[in-house]
Amino acid sequence: MAMIYFDNAATSWPKPPAVRAALNEYFGEAGGNPGRSGHRMSVAATRIVENAREMLAELFHARDASRIVFGHNATHALNLALYGVLRPGDHVVTTSIEHNSVMRPLRHLEKSGVGLTVVACAPDGTLDLDDVRRALRPGTRLLVTTHGSNVAGTLSPIGTLAAIARDNGVLHLVDAAQTAGAIPIDVQEMDLDLLAFTGHKGLLGPTGTGGLYVRESVALAPLIRGGTGSDSAHETQPEFMPDVFESGTLNVAGIAGLAAGVHFLSEIGIEAVQVHERKLVAQFLVGASEIAGITLHGPGDAAPRCGVVSFNVAGAMPSEVGLLLDESFGIMARTGLHCAPAAHRTLGTFPTGTVRFSFGWFNTPAEVEAALKALREIAAWAASGATVSAKGNP
Ligand SMILES: Cc1ncc(COP(=O)(O)O)c(C=O)c1O
Repeated sequence: MAMIYFDNAATSWPKPPAVRAALNEYFGEAGGNPGRSGHRMSVAATRIVENAREMLAELFHARDASRIVFGHNATHALNLALYGVLRPGDHVVTTSIEHNSVMRPLRHLEKSGVGLTVVACAPDGTLDLDDVRRALRPGTRLLVTTHGSNVAGTLSPIGTLAAIARDNGVLHLVDAAQTAGAIPIDVQEMDLDLLAFTGHKGLLGPTGTGGLYVRESVALAPLIRGGTGSDSAHETQPEFMPDVFESGTLNVAGIAGLAAGVHFLSEIGIEAVQVHERKLVAQFLVGASEIAGITLHGPGDAAPRCGVVSFNVAGAMPSEVGLLLDESFGIMARTGLHCAPAAHRTLGTFPTGTVRFSFGWFNTPAEVEAALKALREIAAWAASGATVSAKGNP
């Protein structure tokens, strides 16, 4: 049975061979701690980190690479931005399709006196910009929006949202977990304040990598404090970028792999990745819309989407469909609530959730065709009223 990986929104697979090679190279030749010691292996590790920082700055069109802060993942970056900006008495606006890595910190901050407004999106995940404008008020400090929904695939117009925020004197934080590496992002042209990204999805790097772009004018308090290898005579946190936000030893091996992933993407071009994923989404949407019993969620058109599609099969739980896809057809998908209960409430798919396919650069039209064939069989089986255990192999 051929293996088909459609879970790139959870983490991308496979990684380019250069990513694996970069990890090996780090452990073999540059295994030191960056910025800590003066010896060659420490210097080599520093070079790896700073090279990766430059590459990410180039990817996102940031003028100054020191504005890119490395962390563990998008969740870490989002927490840094949210806790770094918001104080009791502030008001924050977000949307109803956000991931729990935004919702949970915001619900926690709400308990400590931060006012929270969640703007309801339409059932296809789209946002009415007038609703956003109406939600802003004096005292609103931050607008937080995902760029690409990890459930519906819907893309938000982050450039327009940034302009709305700026016109109202509000900071704007973008969650680019699903789009960094897959959709072009230009922090200067889009006029972005804060951009959280993860390294292990579209950027094709290892898990345990990610970061935050912080615009020059944004004042942010650090989430943690500690050793940075710099300013070591002082017991207080350095205030300069990026050290103020990078206490503790970085995941240098992961960052080496991330740089290799970004290099791989820069050779392809992010626009080419977007076109490729959009073609796969369009192929899937057309094919699946012709299968009786399948309900598709999200925008009907492939154009305003990232590489994520969500659907349900009448007569079967998402988990049953996921099990059959994996065990009988070798297709790996994610089912359930995708760490985004608010998004599923928006789509009307709470609490059982959906089946999600998320496509990446290494997926092919033949794989989408194979998945459509599998879904035809699964939908027919589900319509027959059988159960998974009774069915085994449709
Ligand atoms: C929209 C969105 N935001 C944030 C995250 C969190 O990413 P990470 O697990 O890399 O922290 C995810 C992960 O699935 C996501 O889809």
